[in-house]
Amino acid sequence: MPLLDFQDVSFINDGKTILKNLSFVVEAGDYISIIGPSGSGKSTLLRLCSHLISPTGGNIFYKGVNMNKYVPTELRKSIAYCSQLPYLFGNNVKENLDFPFSVRKMPFNEGRVKELFSLFNIPFTFLNADVQNLSGGEKQRISLVRTLLFLPEVLLLDEVTSALDAENTRMVLNAIFTLNRNGITILWITHNPEQSKKYANKILTLEAGEMKSLEVLK
Ligand SMILES: Nc1ncnc2c1ncn2[C@@H]1O[C@H](COP(=O)(O)OP(=O)(O)OP(=O)(O)O)[C@@H](O)[C@H]1O
Ligand SMILES: [Mg+2]
Repeated sequence: MPLLDFQDVSFINDGKTILKNLSFVVEAGDYISIIGPSGSGKSTLLRLCSHLISPTGGNIFYKGVNMNKYVPTELRKSIAYCSQLPYLFGNNVKENLDFPFSVRKMPFNEGRVKELFSLFNIPFTFLNADVQNLSGGEKQRISLVRTLLFLPEVLLLDEVTSALDAENTRMVLNAIFTLNRNGITILWITHNPEQSKKYANKILTLEAGEMKSLEVLK
């Protein structure tokens, strides 16, 4: 059984067709790069995958069960979305990183945070930093850490390296590839053609809301 199964999915908002008749499957262990011009519907597709929005036509199945049968907040523990514009709330970094623990009624695990900070090249002193003062690239990496404190089954990444330099991008690519090798399914939107091919086993191309191709690389 596929992990995610899109059957003739459309998304129309305010009379505007944003995604049209998408049918494809995501198998467990896939690493899919999603590419396509700006405005082609890539972010909308990941928002559907994480149940932030629902299809206006067709159905999405997760492990054989219609997505609308899942409680969205529970489903997002299994299917995690790291958004295009990193959204950090409150005053400091720690509040953001405590959130995944508090929703699970678990104590803050400093060891886990340290582990991820070193993986993404973030000095530990950033834990008490004011979110307003972080650079775009720092916000992107903190937002990734927040998404990865508890590992999901499916990881949805929306241009999460757009503000990073080459060195930090390489670090993130390696870390995500390691997660994929350990069994986590990855859907990653990128505008970088090289990055899209590096580790992916499939490339999904969107154009004007329609699926142009789903190329299998290996
Ligand atoms: N809720 C909405 N209501 C109306 N239009 C929307 C809505 N969400 C997205 N759109 C429009 O749908 C189209 C696809 O948006 P989307 O954000 O999915 O594109 P994208 O492929 O991620 O683009 P980019 O590469 O610029 O991030 C755009 O034209 C956008 O303006
Ligand atoms: Mg987008």
